[in-house]
Amino acid sequence: METIACIKTRRSIRSFQKRAIDKEVLDQVVAAAAYAPSWKNTQITRYVFVESEEGKKKLLENTPSFNHNAIEEAAVVVIVSVIKKRSGYERDGSYSSNKEDGWQMFDAGVASQTLCLAAHELGLGTVIQGILDYEKIQEVFQIPEEREVVALIPMGYPAEEPTAPKRKMIGELYTIC
Ligand SMILES: Cc1cc2nc3c(=O)[nH]c(=O)nc-3n(C[C@H](O)[C@H](O)[C@H](O)COP(=O)(O)O)c2cc1C
Repeated sequence: METIACIKTRRSIRSFQKRAIDKEVLDQVVAAAAYAPSWKNTQITRYVFVESEEGKKKLLENTPSFNHNAIEEAAVVVIVSVIKKRSGYERDGSYSSNKEDGWQMFDAGVASQTLCLAAHELGLGTVIQGILDYEKIQEVFQIPEEREVVALIPMGYPAEEPTAPKRKMIGELYTIC
């Protein structure tokens, strides 16, 4: 798919077909997401793919009900996490800028969007979910302490074709000086 078409036709998908995703396809999605830019190429974003019903049940216990349908129907729910204290930091552990540790969320966002676009190219739908009990999910899935959970991304073959929510006019989005 052409890049701008891929960007414009990706939608947040909240309903999925009952169809598994082949391991090779998951590998392709992650291999593409690995090419996302990151602070000094630190590549701090990590993914846990939850496929089991047992794992999904644990996610449902730690997420709001409006996000449950996507989690229940998804073939895979990706737990996105970052390795802390690398992005935005100097080697001696001090912050590189007054954005302090804000760059790790920036990196996670860039990586997540790259993953979602790669998934879309391969016929998969995704939705980024930002409201969850981060600490509890980290604990339940035994995600190491040096990482921080930042989002969930349910992923699967779409069972809906939503129209794009209205976008702002470009004149509102940029200025030239
Ligand atoms: C950081 C972030 C958090 C989001 N959290 C949720 C969420 O918890 N539940 C949900 O259904 N959608 C969530 N979304 C999806 C947005 O609602 C969606 O991207 C937006 O409405 C635009 O629609 P589109 O993605 O189809 O273009 C989130 C998106 C982002 C980037």
